[in-house]
This record gives sequence, structure tokens and C-alpha cells, in this order.
Amino acid sequence: MNNKYNLKAQMSNSLIHKIKNRKAKIAVIGLGYVGLPLCVEFAKKGFCVTGIDVDKKRVESVNKGISYIGDVKSSEIKLCVKDKSFQAIMDYRVLGEQDAIIMCVPTPLRKTKEPDISYIIDASKKIAETLKAEQLIVLESTTYPGTTDEVIQPILEKSGLKAGKDFYLAFSPERVDPGNKKYNTANIPKVIGGINSQSTLTAKTLYSQINSHVIPVSSSRVAEMVKLLENTFRSVNIALANEMAIMCDYLDIDVWEVIKGAATKPFGFMPFYPGPGIGGHCIPLDPFYLTWKSRLHGYEAKFIELAGEINRTMPKYVVDKIVDILNSHKKSINGSTVFVLGVAYKKDVGDWRESPAIEIISMLLKKGANVYFNDPYVSDININNTLMRSKELSKSLLGKSDCAVIITNHGVYDYKFIIENSFAVLDTRNATGGLNGSFENVFRL
Ligand SMILES: NC(=O)c1ccc[n+]([C@@H]2O[C@H](COP(=O)([O-])OP(=O)(O)OC[C@H]3O[C@@H](n4cnc5c(N)ncnc54)[C@H](O)[C@@H]3O)[C@@H](O)[C@H]2O)c1
Repeated sequence: MNNKYNLKAQMSNSLIHKIKNRKAKIAVIGLGYVGLPLCVEFAKKGFCVTGIDVDKKRVESVNKGISYIGDVKSSEIKLCVKDKSFQAIMDYRVLGEQDAIIMCVPTPLRKTKEPDISYIIDASKKIAETLKAEQLIVLESTTYPGTTDEVIQPILEKSGLKAGKDFYLAFSPERVDPGNKKYNTANIPKVIGGINSQSTLTAKTLYSQINSHVIPVSSSRVAEMVKLLENTFRSVNIALANEMAIMCDYLDIDVWEVIKGAATKPFGFMPFYPGPGIGGHCIPLDPFYLTWKSRLHGYEAKFIELAGEINRTMPKYVVDKIVDILNSHKKSINGSTVFVLGVAYKKDVGDWRESPAIEIISMLLKKGANVYFNDPYVSDININNTLMRSKELSKSLLGKSDCAVIITNHGVYDYKFIIENSFAVLDTRNATGGLNGSFENVFRL
């Protein structure tokens, strides 16, 4: 965009003035890991923010100033609610009064591994009902390229208004990394792609109010693809690290030492680590949005499928390791007690969606093991419709277990205590790698 065009575009867009003056009203649809921190950031900057969710408990929680997302402090929500800059509701009728509406709804996969964009479609239909001129609509949910202009745009244009002319439409991928102490909604660079330059400019102006590093790209499709490249990159590299771990095991080499050594190269290498499998709402799912779309256009994506295949074998690999450890002590998995440490999909968070721990526990139970778990951030989990509660990480439970398995390397765990009080420990994350001394009862991936 050249400066001359920029100026012209800005003059013809009164919404931009409203945003710059912080007079724009903002609605966020979906108050989860992505939507809630976004609401708080805009509210902190003086915007009037309305969060909309179908989950009554979440709405009530926000209005009471109680956070249910680890990275958002209750005190911050409380302040915003108190000064009336943030409220949560379940009623979509307020959408017509907003200047900007941001969708942060889930994008799961169906059992067939096909994208389920029904949440985006539902939210778009609700927006269309009260769409008015000069509104900005942004999608943040991860999805396949083309969702914004092929799916959302026609739904919104049923209102009779024209996208890019009467109202503005853009995609901006969310990169939030739950549990990350350094990077958050306000300082992770934000990519933005509108369906036309006016939409990009308007969305860029909005996000620039809460983030100093906003990167416009040429279209919503490019922005959608940026997110899928990032998550595919992670999935493929984690799969490579996982396969390295398997090969190192065959060759009796310590994979963790190998990665540490390779990471000393100051260019051309970036360390990724093996683990018990991938989890969460992004890496196991998002790349398959791309394979699906690519297949529709006649191309079968190979890296994504292979990475998915390798990553999916890891929970079984971990169970096989437990069986081997027990076997080396002349014990059978059937009847043994296994204590799983950490069920969240990653360190220091309480999110166990798609966590490999669930599959591992389920396989262990199927083989006849008595399974307990501890997670300081997860009070209970559902395994095959049965509720399991987190047990105290006590000397006695460690002592009566035949094997303790570290699935999530939470920072608060005292690994020395775990090792000293366990008969055998399988460490799938190298959480014990930094401890001084050698421990004969510890086995690493
Ligand atoms: N969690 C992450 O770390 C992360 C990171 C980057 C991108 N994303 C992407 O962001 C999107 C949202 O993810 P999330 O983790 O915040 O999900 P989430 O499940 O934590 O939150 C989604 C919220 O949307 C609500 N919701 C569902 N349908 C609704 C509707 N029709 N109207 C209003 N509210 C509705 C749900 O009740 C829930 O509170 C997904 O596409 C995800 O892939 C997530």
C-alpha cells in the first residue's frame, strides 16, 4: 500500500477515526484461550468490549471477575468489569451496536478428519442478522485458506451489504502460546490479511491499538495459510524429533544429548524435542485443515500425513516402554500400578484437550494396569466416560507404584523427590535431565 493510497483510504473510513480515538465498540465471539485475553487487552486500552459466549458458566465467571484461563489474571478481569469496559453476555443482539466483531470460536476436526467449521458458520450467520455499514469483522479461529472469502463473505453479504466496500472483512491468525511467560496477546507479532486493502488497513488499525507489531499481508488467504504453515512446521519437526528418539533407542544413543549437541550450531538448526505425543487444540488438528483443502484441489499433502502418523504412534511407544521397564523387573503390566505425572498436553497449563496422556492411560487400563494420575493444574479427566481424579503426589503413592511416568514436565514438580520415592520412572520429557547424579531407576525416551 503506498502512502497516497493509505491517506485516501483512511479519509474514506470513519471507523478508523473511531478506532484511533478508542471510541469503537468491540465484540469478541468465543471467550476461550484466544478470546478472553483479547477482550482484556482491548478493555485495558480503554475500548468498550463485549464478550459473547454460549457457555453460561464462562459468561458468569467473567462478570464475577473470575478467570478460567491460566494466562489471564482474575484481578485484570475484575478491574475491566468494574470500570465497565468489559462485560460478557450470551445474547447476540448487541452485535448490531458494535463497530468491530472478532470471532474466536473453536475449529475442531470431525471424526473423519474433515474440518468442522460449523462454529464459524453459526457465528457468521448471527453477525449477518444485524450487520451494518462500516463494521469490521475479523476471524481469528485457525482454518483452511479460503474460509474468510469463500464461506464467511457470502454469508455476510446476504445482508445486502458488500464486503470491502460497505463493511470490512479480515483474517488474523492467533498465535497465543498458553503458559508462555514471555509472549502474550499484546507482544506476539500479529499478521493481518483483509479481503481487500481497505479491510486490511482497518483491521491493522484496530490491532495496532493493542500490539505494536502488526504485519499486513496481501489477502485473507495468505494470512490463513501463514497460520497453517506455522503449525505444520511444528508438527513436522516434532515428528522428526520423535523418529530420532526411536532411532536413537535402537542405536542405544541418548537422543537428548544429540539434540543438545546439534543445537550448538548457531545457524540452520532449531531444536525440537521428542515426547509422548502431541496434544492441545492446534498442532494435532490444524495441519489436517490444510491437507483437506489441498486434496480438494487435487494435491495429497505428504509431509503432514507422515508427521501425523509418526506423532500418533508415540503414546503406544510410551506404553511399550512401560511394559519393557516392568518386564525387566519380571513384572507384568496386568496388575501393576502406574502413576502418571502430568496429563495436560504441555508444561504449566491445565488444558488436557487431545493430550497424549489420555490415550496412554486408556491403553494402560486396557492392559489391566491400575492407573493413578497427578496434575497440579487438572483436577479431573474423563477416560472412556469414567471420571478420574488427580491424586496427591505423595511418598506413599509413589512408593506403591511399580512405575511413575512423567508425561508433562510441569515446572512445579520436585523431580528429585519423584525419583527418590519411586521404584522406576519413565521420563518422556527429559524433565530429570538437568539433575545432578545418575539414577538407575530412571528411563528416558
Ligand atoms: N488455544 C490456543 O492455544 C490457540 C492458539 C492459536 C489459535 N487457536 C485457535 O483459536 C480458536 C479458538 O480456540 P480456543 O482455544 O480459544 O477455544 P476454546 O474452546 O478455549 O474457546 C472457544 C469458546 O467459544 C465458545 N463458543 C463456541 N461456539 C460459540 C458460538 N456460536 N458463539 C459464541 N461462543 C461460542 C465456546 O463456548 C468457548 O468458550 C480455534 O480455532 C483454535 O484453533 C487456539
